[in-house]
Amino acid sequence: MVLAAFVPTSTPSPAGGRMTGSTISIRPLDLHSASAAEWAAFHQFRRIRHADSCRDEPLLPDAAVEASRRKRSHYWQHVGWAAWEDTGGGERIVGYIHADLPDVNHPEMASNGNQMFVHGSVCKEFRRRGIGTRLLGKVGTLAATAGRSLVTSTTEQEDGHAFLRHFGGEEKMRYEENHLRLDRVDWTMVERWYAALPADLSLTTYAGRVPMTAFERMLPAINAMIADIPRDRMSIPVIENSASMIEDWYARIGQQDGRHHLLALTDANGELAAMADLLWFPDTPDRAGHNLMGVRRDRRGQGLGKAIKAAALLHVRKSLPTVELMTTGNNQVNAPTLAINRQLGFFTQRSGGFYEIAADALPRG
Ligand SMILES: CC(C)(COP(=O)(O)OP(=O)(O)OC[C@H]1O[C@@H](n2cnc3c(N)ncnc32)[C@H](O)[C@@H]1OP(=O)(O)O)[C@@H](O)C(=O)NCCC(=O)NCCS
Repeated sequence: MVLAAFVPTSTPSPAGGRMTGSTISIRPLDLHSASAAEWAAFHQFRRIRHADSCRDEPLLPDAAVEASRRKRSHYWQHVGWAAWEDTGGGERIVGYIHADLPDVNHPEMASNGNQMFVHGSVCKEFRRRGIGTRLLGKVGTLAATAGRSLVTSTTEQEDGHAFLRHFGGEEKMRYEENHLRLDRVDWTMVERWYAALPADLSLTTYAGRVPMTAFERMLPAINAMIADIPRDRMSIPVIENSASMIEDWYARIGQQDGRHHLLALTDANGELAAMADLLWFPDTPDRAGHNLMGVRRDRRGQGLGKAIKAAALLHVRKSLPTVELMTTGNNQVNAPTLAINRQLGFFTQRSGGFYEIAADALPRG
């Protein structure tokens, strides 16, 4: 492993776990306020993890990652720890874990006040030495002090599944990351889907941003659509979006100069009947990510899902000419969405599991 970034060791720390020669210490790493040396070490770790497990995906530029991770969310408290290996001449990061805690001071987050989302990873050649357990111990202690009884996590790798099961985690839902190559799309079919739009509906396209007044008007309908997404055996309640949560989200997208495109089908009363939205970032110009596709309950089964998805694809072809690939995350139990996506030619790029773990089953450290 080639190391570009070394951070001087400030305090010698004890070896932990079953180590083979080197010393590992676990310390907080706050990416909101990390020093340049800490960021350099984090980027080095990120590159190793990327080569380990997702080399098919674009590696985001350092500046883009820093811009988005330095920005605090008003709604989630982000806490992280790194596992540092003392190499003798300096330190490098070989593992990292973070926890996102819904901030219960905001009424929108109260329904999720008992939980926290966690994700961590350890460089391949450092696995099965107890480093993951030590990192998880920090989360276990945080869960106890913050009064969180449930920890949720995702993994796409076999050792991640084994690790989460080892700590009593239960896979509650499988998800897929699906991709569509635009040069393989049957555009005649897409145009036919769009042309089948019922005459009482009109299409509004918001390109780049949705004005907040328009967003606020649509939010109750969008929240109802989100609540209807099949979530298999997941127990955590859906968080309802408020206008200020959307503003917070927009501010974070704005850090990376991201664009939010939303296509809305409204009925004669001006009410939202169907919508689809997508995100595009200049750092990954060849791709756009579908966010949500939703049809109001009383308008389902009339081809609106296909029509709004077709409208979104036609919009991408016309307005985002650099885009070659559409990406989307789908729950495996979401049969209607998967059926539409499969007909369009989406294929599964990766899949993973969403886990729930009782916090009192976690180690403490
Ligand atoms: C999950 C991950 C962080 C574990 O790190 P680690 O340092 O290897 O974990 P530990 O050594 O502390 O393992 C603790 C226990 O988990 C279980 N476990 C971990 N990896 C396993 C594997 N590949 N096969 C079977 N069991 C495994 C074992 O019971 C292990 O205890 P043991 O070694 O005494 O048998 C690491 O595999 C990883 O980075 N995976 C990719 C990212 C990911 O999927 N993260 C999961 C979401 S947090």
